[in-house]
Amino acid sequence: MMKDQIEQIRLAAVDALKNATNLSDLENIRVSFLGKKGQLTSLLKQMGSLSADLRPAMGQLANDVRAYLEGEISKAATALQSAELNHRLSRETIDVTMPGEDVCIGHKHPMSIVLDETKQIFLGMGFSVADGPEVEYDYYNFEALNIPKDHPARDTQDTFYISENVLLRTQTSSCQIRYMENHKPPIRIIAPGRVYRSDALDATHSPMFHQIEGLVVDEGISMADLKGTLEVFAKRLYGEDVVCRFRPHHFPFTEPSAEMDIQCFNCHGKGCRLCKNEGWIELLGAGMVHPRVLETCNIDPNKYSGYAFGIGLERITMRRYQIGDLRMFFENDTRFLGQF
Ligand code: PHE
Repeated sequence: MMKDQIEQIRLAAVDALKNATNLSDLENIRVSFLGKKGQLTSLLKQMGSLSADLRPAMGQLANDVRAYLEGEISKAATALQSAELNHRLSRETIDVTMPGEDVCIGHKHPMSIVLDETKQIFLGMGFSVADGPEVEYDYYNFEALNIPKDHPARDTQDTFYISENVLLRTQTSSCQIRYMENHKPPIRIIAPGRVYRSDALDATHSPMFHQIEGLVVDEGISMADLKGTLEVFAKRLYGEDVVCRFRPHHFPFTEPSAEMDIQCFNCHGKGCRLCKNEGWIELLGAGMVHPRVLETCNIDPNKYSGYAFGIGLERITMRRYQIGDLRMFFENDTRFLGQF
C-alpha cells in the first residue's frame, strides 16, 4: 500500500534525523528523502498507477509528510546550530581577570622633549624656527661670522672638512648668516640643529652634537634684551628659582660676548661633583651681533643692532634630567630611553 510506504519513509527519515550530528548530515537526509531523486519524490512518481479516487488522498498525505519532514529538518538544524554555538562559546571563554599584555609604545628621546619645550618657550616670546644645512660652506660657518682664516677654530683639529670650501658645520651660527641674507629686520629666530667637531667621544664630548641658535635683530636692541630673554628661558626650563649669571667671554661674531651660567641646583653654588666644584654650570654662549657681521649681510649697523646666542642641547638636557654621561643620548639603550 502506498500509504504504508509513505509512513515508512517518514519513520526512516525521523530515525535518520536522530543520528544527524551536523548540518551536512541534515542536508544529506533532505536530499535522500525530499530531493528530486529522493525516496518520497520517487514514490510520488508512481501515483499514476493509483486509481483516480485514491490519488487526491495520497497526494495530500505525501504533501503533509513532506511539510512535516521539512519542519523537522529545520528544527534539527536550529538545534545543531545552537549546540555548535554553545560549544564554541564555552571553548572560547575569555578570562577578563587575566592581566593584560604590556603594549610597548615608543618614548620621545629626552633631547626631543627638551628641544620641543625650548621651541615652545621661544615661540611664546615671538620667535620663529629657522634652519640651515649641516654640510656647509666655509663662508657661512666662518668667513661671514668674522672668523678670519688664521683663527684657531678653523684648525683641522676641530673641523671636518669635505673640501677646501665645504665642511660639516661646527656651529649653528651659520644659520644667522643664511637667515640675514634673505630677511630684513625685525628678525627673531631660533635655529636648532646638528653640529660636528672632530672631538673624541667621552662623557662630555661627542663629534656630533646639537645646538639651538638664536638671533634677534631690530632697532634699539640692547644687551638688556639679551639678558632678559635668556633669563626667562632658563626660568621656564628649570623653574622660577634658578639663578643665572653672565660672564664676559669672546666670540669673533659678537661684541661684547658672554657666557651664561646657572647656579648648580645640586649644591646651590657651594661646589660639588656635578658642577666640578665650580658652583655654576655653563649653559650657553651669547653676545651682541658684531657690526661687521651685520654689514656682511647688508644690514646697516648704524640703524640696527642685535643679539645672538647658542645653546648646547645635550648640555641643557643633561642638566634638566641630571644625566652624567652624554653618550647615553646616542646609545639608544631602551632601558635609558624608557625612563622619560
Ligand atoms: N657658536 C658659538 C659656539 O658654538 C655659540 C654662540 C652663538 C655664541 C651665538 C655667541 C652667539 O660656541
